Amino acid sequence: MDRLQKVIAEAGIASRRKAEELIVNGKVKVNGKVVTELGTKVDSKDTIEVNNKIIEKELKEYYLLNKPRGVITSTSDDKGRKTVIDLIDTTARIYPVGRLDYDTTGALLLTNDGDFANILTHPKNNIDKVYLAKLNGIIKGEQINKLKDGVMLDNVLVKPSRVKLKKVDPSKNTSMVEITVHEGKNHEVKRLFESVGFLVDKLTRERIGIFNLEGLKSGEYRKLTPKEVQIVYGNKK
Ligand code: URA
Repeated sequence: MDRLQKVIAEAGIASRRKAEELIVNGKVKVNGKVVTELGTKVDSKDTIEVNNKIIEKELKEYYLLNKPRGVITSTSDDKGRKTVIDLIDTTARIYPVGRLDYDTTGALLLTNDGDFANILTHPKNNIDKVYLAKLNGIIKGEQINKLKDGVMLDNVLVKPSRVKLKKVDPSKNTSMVEITVHEGKNHEVKRLFESVGFLVDKLTRERIGIFNLEGLKSGEYRKLTPKEVQIVYGNKK
């Protein structure tokens, strides 16, 4: 059972706030009767009408994309740049779960299921977001330890659950570091490395929770299996 305003919003008729207005103003019927109670619960068997038009409930869809560089993580772009939505062949109103920068590559989930998206993005659920960062410069143990101790970002202590030096290349003056975080703050990984004096030259998200890039080349995507969706719901705290 879901709240009526949520079902209306998820059908793409109106924002949740606007849906509440429609309900209070008597514009919504459930099984032929006007309902003005905001807390009303409905399920998939109920027929909902908004302004006397029956709403179609959209089926939930779930995708995992290997995001290429040069694509924005958004549902639209006012500058006309390609978005991650343009890469997925669907008519459902899907949106990205969290955000990868324009120049970041790797694992990105997309869905029209708000509850699923919330589970993956909420820090309290401790979902791993694993990144491989190529740094300009050679990172030292001391700087890695500083990251492990945590860094203040937006007045919150961000403490990566794992920081592992994978490789250094003295001839190119670069380091490869794998870092695992549970939040999804704007430019989080770049800001973490900046705080210890490094610019991130390349960034890839290798994994979100159980979802890695196995079998997906850059720009490719696949649908999640029902079992995978179930596992995510099992992570809810
Ligand atoms: N952290 C960043 O800095 N950028 C991303 O795209 C993702 C995480």
